[in-house]
Amino acid sequence: MKEISKSVIKKDHQPKIDGSALYVGDYPQEGMLHGRIVRSPYARARVVEIKPYALPEGYFTVDHRDVPGINEVHIVKDDTPVYAEEIVEYIGDPVLMVVGPDEQEVLRIASEIEVVYEQLPAVLNVRDSETAFFDYNFGKGDPDTAFAEADKVYEEEFETGYQEQAYLEPQGMIATFADSKLSIHGSLQCPYYVHGAIAKALGLTPDRVRVVQDVTGGGFGGKEAYPSILACQVAVAAYRAGGKPVRVIFDRREDMEFTSKRHPSLSTYRVAVKDGRVTAMDIDVIFNAGGYTTLSAVVLQRGIIASPGVYKVENIRVRGRAMKTNTVPTGAYRGFGAPQTFFAVEMMMNHIARDLGEEPLAFKQRHLVKQGDPTSTGGIYHFPVPLPEMIAEVEQMSGYSQKRTEYNAAKPGRYRRGVGIALWFHGAGFTGSGERDHIKAVTRLHKSADGRVEILASQSDIGQGIKTTLCKIVANELNLPLDHVTYNNPDTDRVPDSGPTVASRSLMTVGELLRRAAIRLRSEWKDAEDQTVEERFVEPDFVIPFYIEKFQGDAYPTYAWAVSAVEVEVDTLTGVNKVLGAWASFDVGTPIDYNIVVGQMEGGLLQGLGYASMEQMAADQTGRIRNNSFSDYIIPTSVDVPVLQVKMHVEEYPLGPYGAKGAGELPLVGMPAAYMAAMEQALHQSIQHIPFSAEDALFGTAHE
Ligand code: MOS
Repeated sequence: MKEISKSVIKKDHQPKIDGSALYVGDYPQEGMLHGRIVRSPYARARVVEIKPYALPEGYFTVDHRDVPGINEVHIVKDDTPVYAEEIVEYIGDPVLMVVGPDEQEVLRIASEIEVVYEQLPAVLNVRDSETAFFDYNFGKGDPDTAFAEADKVYEEEFETGYQEQAYLEPQGMIATFADSKLSIHGSLQCPYYVHGAIAKALGLTPDRVRVVQDVTGGGFGGKEAYPSILACQVAVAAYRAGGKPVRVIFDRREDMEFTSKRHPSLSTYRVAVKDGRVTAMDIDVIFNAGGYTTLSAVVLQRGIIASPGVYKVENIRVRGRAMKTNTVPTGAYRGFGAPQTFFAVEMMMNHIARDLGEEPLAFKQRHLVKQGDPTSTGGIYHFPVPLPEMIAEVEQMSGYSQKRTEYNAAKPGRYRRGVGIALWFHGAGFTGSGERDHIKAVTRLHKSADGRVEILASQSDIGQGIKTTLCKIVANELNLPLDHVTYNNPDTDRVPDSGPTVASRSLMTVGELLRRAAIRLRSEWKDAEDQTVEERFVEPDFVIPFYIEKFQGDAYPTYAWAVSAVEVEVDTLTGVNKVLGAWASFDVGTPIDYNIVVGQMEGGLLQGLGYASMEQMAADQTGRIRNNSFSDYIIPTSVDVPVLQVKMHVEEYPLGPYGAKGAGELPLVGMPAAYMAAMEQALHQSIQHIPFSAEDALFGTAHE
């Protein structure tokens, strides 16, 4: 293990343990106003009238007519209104906000205000949607000829459900408009996303908007775009509040029903096989985007780029669509589109192998990409692909092949066991040209005369440990004790835009900029002087430029890799299944703090297992999300996986700090496929959907 990988006490450990860390809900409420959003009860409707309501003194409402700038939330394509105008597009679409000094009174008024709607036909099922927000096509080789010449063609459809981020701290913001400046702080991943959104909605120049991240109780992607929406709504209220702060903090039910979650998907794979080898894939991916586009374009891009999996396939045709439905807009969740397609491709490969009479792992191993091979988009896997070594590590930890053989031979009884394995990657950093064309990250280091150094960047610590790891990098280059390097929660008045905390980019991309800044500061160091150095992102020379119009080039500079095996036992009388063990090897390059990275790997792995099984979320026949509490949306905990073993396989990335690559999202991505491969063996059936419930397990075995 490298010196830098040795674990330290996290920078934010003490304040979180002693309670001094201030989350948005912890700020003293004297003099604050409270806001409550009134939302559409219909999946699609025309807003006819907001009935006049005699508000008590000190109370007011805001709606789209109060938006001083443009009534659009800047995300990617700005079709999300701050407050709905004529048409509401999903149950929960915000129409107005009630604001006033007493929270209970605000809630009462919000429940009494009458909005008259004219209901309109709504599209609730993605299969009925005729509106594609985005429709991408790309490919390579000659799939038509490959299909014509195939020995056999396989076709299957795979379906995945919602997944709710289930961060412990719900969404919340506090905004104040004073001295012609809008200041806002709250629970968020991306201060400059919020900054840009408020500037547009309020029609303010950038210097008149200030965004500060509060200590944040988890994000997992759920605080990537949604805080921009809530921030604009609260900012509009603050603009009217005569200098008083306005606070909106969601309750759990509101948070679960009305904020973004993972896109449900339908993927159809047609696969040509000749001489026992996959020669072509024709892939059609449909994501349910919900009522507005929010982040769907980029989530879909990552999903379809990953859709052929870790396999070398010469001929590919991919179509991906994000369809509009009148349901809650879906968005970022750890993995960002890739868990959906990795589930599909891994199950597809298992099913083809079974039909060919070959063990899935052996079949997959014959198709693995290697260093130097082309990617799905005509880029190159520039760096070593350590999957063969990682498979061997997982074999050793789990006894996969031996168990596989044993369970294949087992007689069917009430309790059945199965073991499955999945292989996957996660593209490290932004998809395509985002980093080069849009983010253009800037970081600074500020040294005070006393020799202490402060990191100036816009990364947010949302539990993943970035405060600690960035400080470790800078302290290491400057030979300073760790407590002489500080990193505060980002404040846009003080820090440059080093980009959002998304896409497993912070440590790899911003960490490397800070390492270079530290090297420069070291060479220019002057004792007892105040100094600032700056470093800007430059795309590495080896990268083949990516063009989104053609889906051509390196979608990612490098990849993180994963192999995981899962063992299950199913009670075929009740359908209940237990995970007996999960073993995984993860390559995220050099861990910049071993404990932090292993914690990330274990947590993501568990989220992936939950996604495949117990995390069931659905809309009812009116389009309303039914599972709106932690008692009917169950997430796994450590007791759900009695044996959990993670191995860090280190394949250093020469352009990441000390060899580090993107880490955060990787561990979740392929876990559903590993779990369901194990369930297939236990149940002797094919599985094409997640979440896979106890009822599903019963249904599959009832007739045997
Ligand atoms: Mo993310 S899922 O890139 O916040």
